[in-house]
Amino acid sequence: MSALLELRDITIRFGGLVAVDGVSLKVEEGKVVALIGPNGAGKSTMFNVVTGIYPPTSGAVLFRDEDITGLKPYDITNRGIARTFQNIRLFKNLSVLDNVKIGCHCRGKAGIFGALCRYPGVRAEEKGMMDKSLKAMDIVDLAGKRGELAKNLSCGEQRRLEIARALASEPVLLLLDEPAAGMNPQEKQTLMQMVQRIRRIGITIFLVEHDMKFVMSMSDRVDVLDYGRKIASGPPSEVQRDAQVIAAYLGKEVV
Ligand SMILES: Nc1ncnc2c1ncn2[C@@H]1O[C@H](COP(=O)(O)OP(=O)(O)O)[C@@H](O)[C@H]1O
Ligand SMILES: [Mg+2]
Repeated sequence: MSALLELRDITIRFGGLVAVDGVSLKVEEGKVVALIGPNGAGKSTMFNVVTGIYPPTSGAVLFRDEDITGLKPYDITNRGIARTFQNIRLFKNLSVLDNVKIGCHCRGKAGIFGALCRYPGVRAEEKGMMDKSLKAMDIVDLAGKRGELAKNLSCGEQRRLEIARALASEPVLLLLDEPAAGMNPQEKQTLMQMVQRIRRIGITIFLVEHDMKFVMSMSDRVDVLDYGRKIASGPPSEVQRDAQVIAAYLGKEVV
């Protein structure tokens, strides 16, 4: 079976710094794949390459066997890849619903003129957007808070709102960059249930996370980066025992 997402020999340089150095990896359809490694290992940079924020210096990104290397972010979202960010990026003074609706926009066809005139086609599009937004908010249990301003949500809820916004674009593949960061144990538990829910809907998940309990219990495979290089890849139980991984990263957190 070919992978849903395949990264082939990706290198990313920022001036003299090699942030990612010849990394290849695959994310198979229906799986949860985690990318872990110390701070500065190149994890977010990999996500930025997949989602079109930076083109790689060399190497290729394939999605559903198509070469998407260097495509623009909106084009990549339209093809079915959505993401959340390590630093929460919400419109704090907009409602939960409006933040989620923004996630639908990239697929809208009406344009500003159409939206202002409210042609029948535009109304249908709006209804579609509302339906998608409600579905996305339901998945992360935020539908009841749709009228709240984003800034009034707890940290855990804000992270879930980011996930809802990503889901509103109806992705095939969802990239989560440190989704549990800043959450208390209860919020993490809730998040884990939501990630399971998203997976059951059939969305493939590529995850960067530092919380090892989260990573080890959620993932089918774990790939490990250290100084931009891939140093291990395997099922969580194997990676947890890998001497190189323990030395680079896990030592204090697991065992
Ligand atoms: N836009 C950028 N310009 C220059 N250096 C960057 C940029 N983005 C990331 N880096 C550097 O690349 C390395 C990897 O960063 P990052 O991917 O954010 O690591 P991680 O997410 O694993 O903590 C770090 O040394 C970081 O400072
Ligand atoms: Mg990061």
